[in-house]
Amino acid sequence: MRKKIVAGNWKMNKTLAEGIELAKTINRQAGDNGVIIVLCTPFIHLTEVRNTITKDSLYLGAQNCAAETSGAYTGEVSAAMIRSTGAEYVIIGHSERRIYYHEDDATVNKKVKLALANELTPIFCCGEVLQERQSGIHFDVVRKQIEKGLFDLPAEDFAKVVIAYEPVWAIGTGVTATSQQAQEMHNLIREHVAEKYGNQAANNTSILYGGSCKPSNAGELFANPDVDGGLIGGASLTASDFMGIVNAF
Ligand code: PGA
Repeated sequence: MRKKIVAGNWKMNKTLAEGIELAKTINRQAGDNGVIIVLCTPFIHLTEVRNTITKDSLYLGAQNCAAETSGAYTGEVSAAMIRSTGAEYVIIGHSERRIYYHEDDATVNKKVKLALANELTPIFCCGEVLQERQSGIHFDVVRKQIEKGLFDLPAEDFAKVVIAYEPVWAIGTGVTATSQQAQEMHNLIREHVAEKYGNQAANNTSILYGGSCKPSNAGELFANPDVDGGLIGGASLTASDFMGIVNAF
């Protein structure tokens, strides 16, 4: 069954104490309106934030994982290590990882498989940059990212993946995709998944929107038939904004 998910991506924000405080407030306010709430914290917060979670609707996630299983990779954190904290989700292929840390489709694909092998749900990010949209190739760009990142997974593994469409031009810019732009791309993604894995798998895939999503526009975005929630950056750093988005469903 397709799930409604609102995931907060804290990025490189919050000291440990600040993160625990934010998680506690969200835990207190989290209700049970059928929305899965995921807190994707920095690695160092994972264990402590796990210990603040008491609500069934609240889950823990990381923002990245290593492309290798273990060994001499200074500074890296493996999927198994993430899972051992109690985290159940991991963001993979975020545009900031692709752009600043040069993660290509093959690396992202490896990470997806390691996440799945370690019982983490990958939140697989895709999305075009402004120039790609302006030159009209945005559908092709996103289709290719999904093919290369996900389409060699067996159907039973693909069924565990969450997709996040995040137009790069909308991330942290205050410019949100219009509700129509989001629906159009989400629908294209679902159709592409249907071509590969069939209609039922496509219907069951949660596709989140990310990019300057806030309480004031979340309701309109989430009202689209193919938008199943959001991946939230800036607005996930304040409990009232984040819960405003969760409650926009
Ligand atoms: P934003 O970030 O909500 O701050 O635009 C979204 C994201 O990068 O996941």
